[in-house]
Amino acid sequence: MPDIVTIDRLGHQGDGTASLGGKQIFVPFTLEGEKVLLSGLPGRGNHREVAEIVEPSQDRISPICPHFGDCGGCQLQHFSHEPYLAWKRALLVSELEREGIDVDVAGPVSFPAASRRRAVLTAIHTSGGTHLGFQGRGSHEVIDIATCPVMTGELQAALPAVRSLAGAFVPPPAKGKPGSVRVTMLSCDNGIDIAFAHGGKVTARDLETAARHPASKHFLRISLNGEVLHARQRPILTAGTARVSPPPEAFAQAVAGAEQAMADLVCEHLSPCKRTADLFAGFGTFALRLAQNSMVAAYEFDAPALAAMDRAWRETGGALKTITHERRDLFRRPVMASELKKIDGAVFDPPRAGAEAQARELAMSKVRKVAAVSCNPQTLARDLRILIEGGYKLVSVTAIDQFAFTPHLEAVALLEW
Ligand SMILES: C[S@@+](CC[C@H](N)C(=O)[O-])C[C@H]1O[C@@H](n2cnc3c(N)ncnc32)[C@H](O)[C@@H]1O
Repeated sequence: MPDIVTIDRLGHQGDGTASLGGKQIFVPFTLEGEKVLLSGLPGRGNHREVAEIVEPSQDRISPICPHFGDCGGCQLQHFSHEPYLAWKRALLVSELEREGIDVDVAGPVSFPAASRRRAVLTAIHTSGGTHLGFQGRGSHEVIDIATCPVMTGELQAALPAVRSLAGAFVPPPAKGKPGSVRVTMLSCDNGIDIAFAHGGKVTARDLETAARHPASKHFLRISLNGEVLHARQRPILTAGTARVSPPPEAFAQAVAGAEQAMADLVCEHLSPCKRTADLFAGFGTFALRLAQNSMVAAYEFDAPALAAMDRAWRETGGALKTITHERRDLFRRPVMASELKKIDGAVFDPPRAGAEAQARELAMSKVRKVAAVSCNPQTLARDLRILIEGGYKLVSVTAIDQFAFTPHLEAVALLEW
């Protein structure tokens, strides 16, 4: 007897949940209220696949990408825009509530399709040629993508050249495993930066390949394992009035509009401040903007990112206020409350793990205004609770849908004493 279940809600990863035989199961690509026929095939763990949508939700729409469902890049293209945004907002609200934080969440601010300027793909060799794409859903298989409507038009148009060049850097199989290369594409102001990484040695042959391959002309710079192999021009990204040249594979906000929205919120909130700190500064996305108005102390673990920020600052020729920087592991050695005495505004923008140790120091400080930028609602809520318990008042929280069609959500929270 085939199993038909009703989806009761969407879980945090965007899969529908239902109960079957007294157990909770997860059913990808379904929506709340839908009646679905499950496939007889065994799924991963407690996941089951859909054979047929028996009663579709009125919020169901057609996906915009032919690879949706196979490619692991997107999970939610079947969800119409407004209810999808409401679901994302509710994800953040429920994490805040779990920490006892009751606040009106603004947004999510959303961005049009074809705006993702940074993408990390994988390339492998197969009997049918080089495959370039995201990993398949729940598998290590690489789904070869002919198109990706989420990426900027520039990145989409470059996919054939990227595939061709990536094929030249896929290492041979080792220990019974096929070789693969990670491919980071970044659409900059002046063209595409491309970075390959496979963890092996960089050889003279790699240098020659990058210089002579017919596809190389499509890229500003080609690097392998962080080493620049070939560069026609420095890749440039604009941060306020500064122009920064990101190091190979450096973190960059994935959507330019999302970066601007976050930076606007941060800079507006910290505008009365004269001495600010940028914690988890990367290559200065916020620091270079804040320095239009305040002196900035930037802290970050990635030395090449800090060097790129410093160079961008120097190249403004004195147009910005002073930016000092320190390479520091802010998980192990957060900037102490005692070091923040002269600081009146701070932004922190940590990786998914959040900034617990740093939030504890800020909570003991007298920094007047704080902006928390986050890519993980759960750790954001924890860090905000630490700040609130330390005496900060939460002024606003804005959700930012930088990763459309996925369960990932960014947010900017603003606090003050
Ligand atoms: C979400 S990114 C934000 C970067 C920057 N604010 C931006 O918007 O481009 C997080 C940054 O934290 C840095 N990071 C990760 N772990 C760190 C640590 N333990 N200490 C200091 N920085 C760290 C990463 O190198 C990365 O630049």
